[in-house]
Amino acid sequence: MKLLIATNNQGKLKEYQQILRELLPDLTLLTLREAGINQDVEETGETFEENARLKAVEYAALSGLPVIADDSGLAVEALGGFPGVHSARWAGPTDAERNREILAKLENVPEAERGAKFVCVALCRTPDGREAMAYGEVLGRIGYEPRGSNGFGYDPLFVFPERGTTMAELSSDEKNAISHRGRAARLLAPEVARLLGGIES
Ligand code: IMP
Repeated sequence: MKLLIATNNQGKLKEYQQILRELLPDLTLLTLREAGINQDVEETGETFEENARLKAVEYAALSGLPVIADDSGLAVEALGGFPGVHSARWAGPTDAERNREILAKLENVPEAERGAKFVCVALCRTPDGREAMAYGEVLGRIGYEPRGSNGFGYDPLFVFPERGTTMAELSSDEKNAISHRGRAARLLAPEVARLLGGIES
């Protein structure tokens, strides 16, 4: 059976592949490109769940396949949860610019108030409208300067106080084991298996 992962990001594909393989070894995962889809879905929702569903509904209709779509972002406590669903689209086009802006906004914010979390909603939807959803989050703090070169986005700012490293200083396996997306994907996997008939519920 084929399952569309609503991304062109090979890293995300690999992560879902690793996690779903154990429960559904016969599943073939495709990226949007591999399914011949080059259409973008506008993320106009006000929540991560709405955006994940917008993508899943549209791509299931376009492909005729079951789809996993996710939406994720950073929520900074001192900024009232900002940038949240806007994580990919504010303050200039690059990750480096967005990271500079976050640091500027937190310039006088003390250590105890620099809490933040990465969140992810992963949603699986079949073309006939059945769905399953999972939520994952990881807690940390916003550092004082970017550190590390792995990962992407806000990873260089996201510090684990107990380890003293940023997300960008972890290997991809280490990140997958604790990340918001890894957690959501692991929770979603058995639901996907049930939805696609791999496991009796
Ligand atoms: P999307 O869910 O792939 O659309 O991601 C939205 C945005 O949230 C990304 O462009 C990043 O800016 C941010 N983001 C989501 N997940 C991560 C992560 O694991 N590390 C760093 N930034 C992330």
